Amino acid sequence: MDMPPSTSRKRVHIKTYGCQMNVYDSERMADALAPDGYEQTDDVTTADLVLINTCHIREKASEKLYSDLGRLRDMKAERTDGASVTIAVAGCVAQAEGTEIIRRSPVVDLVVGPQSYHRLPELVARSRSATRPAGDGQLAAEFEPQAKFDRLPKHRRTTGPTAFLTVQEGCDKFCAFCVVPYTRGAEFSRPAADILAEARRLAESGVCEITLLGQNVNAYHAEGADGPVELAGLMRGLAEIPGVERLRYTTSHPNDMTDALIAAHAEIPAVMPYLHLPVQSGSDRVLKAMNRRHTADGYLRLVERLRAARPDLALSGDFIVGFPGETEADFDATLELVRQVVYAGAFTFKYSRRPGTPAAGADQQVPEAVKAERLARLNAVLESQRQDFNRSKIGTVMPILFERQGRHAGQLIGRSPWLQSVWTEAPEALMGQIVDIEITAVGPNSLVGRRPGSNPRSDAAA
Ligand code: SAH
Ligand code: SF4
Ligand code: F3S
Repeated sequence: MDMPPSTSRKRVHIKTYGCQMNVYDSERMADALAPDGYEQTDDVTTADLVLINTCHIREKASEKLYSDLGRLRDMKAERTDGASVTIAVAGCVAQAEGTEIIRRSPVVDLVVGPQSYHRLPELVARSRSATRPAGDGQLAAEFEPQAKFDRLPKHRRTTGPTAFLTVQEGCDKFCAFCVVPYTRGAEFSRPAADILAEARRLAESGVCEITLLGQNVNAYHAEGADGPVELAGLMRGLAEIPGVERLRYTTSHPNDMTDALIAAHAEIPAVMPYLHLPVQSGSDRVLKAMNRRHTADGYLRLVERLRAARPDLALSGDFIVGFPGETEADFDATLELVRQVVYAGAFTFKYSRRPGTPAAGADQQVPEAVKAERLARLNAVLESQRQDFNRSKIGTVMPILFERQGRHAGQLIGRSPWLQSVWTEAPEALMGQIVDIEITAVGPNSLVGRRPGSNPRSDAAA
């Protein structure tokens, strides 16, 4: 229920765009603001602080910021207390275009890049205490990942049985199309002890599935108590924490898929058999121009090794169509790779020209209509693969982690090991638990299941 604002109690409305790391970052920014009396609200019209956490990855994603800022300017003008509302911009657009945001949008009080958000409380407090002329926004865009993690509150407010946990940030790969190395900075891995401590606290608050995040999560390497630790070793340590039953990690680069990490899929039962492994293109010529530094065949062999280690492994991927110079034959090679791999899910994108990246200046940009047509063809193949994968689960029994209420009373929705959404009739007491469910039907976006009556595990859990 809404309460009138007071000096001690304030409200922050956070809008998050972009990847899962931005979701994690938004949660952590809310944690950082909590000691100053900020509670989160869904209602922007009563917020004291509006925080937009932005994504720069494609042109459309970036443009959303400026349309939001236009609406916020109107809202401030309409509200009687509008002058006291603080507007903050965080995330990757903040990093890439901070100075321009402040110049273009006087409504913005402060801009904070992804590696500086530990400074958010201080910047907000300063902004709210000063009578600041319009257009005089503050900018924090340093790259200070360790300082950030050190200064964030240890405590995280969790709301369910699943949580994200950032273990690695930044990217040194410089794919020719991508802004991430510029917005997130160089690769940085958090110390293993910090990650284990954060995971222990999550488990104590009821989290049983942790998704480890990194722009190149499988490039994770840091010092542990007994020497260097890579992602496989980190997951071994995490899997030993009481209460941690499921581990996932995203996003991986094919070139950082080490033997030890492949073996981890076979050896650590908590590691879920679902892997997001972007390939972007199936054409060696395009892969080279993208600076991906592997071939289509190299990717296919990697997939074979992963499936040999974990036969029930399912894959998802990212694809870009219409990279500069992509011919019909190149695109056919992508379709061919997709047919060979057989994906359970995918994210597909039309190439978007990003200022400052090497590919932006390339000749031979592919016309929009050609990109749209290729995207539709690629999506058709991937969608039928996804449906086939889902249908292949009908009649099987799989452990489902119940995460939220269904649309109707008495229904719960959870996730399968392969990240499929599954709903079933189940008592609320099973929320947050992992229960064996038999899949009976498949809808367009979710599976339907029931509790096998004779199943001792689900009876015990109920
Ligand atoms: N670090 C991850 C994810 C990067 S961004 C990785 O390397 O896979 C997520 C996806 O956005 C990328 O995998 C790519 O498919 C897509 N993407 C990145 N830049 C893009 C651009 N300029 N145009 C279209 N899609 C892009
Ligand atoms: Fe971007 Fe490539 Fe780095 Fe992924 S690996 S974040 S696509 S530069
Ligand atoms: Fe977007 Fe930045 Fe994530 S550009 S995809 S929010 S790393």
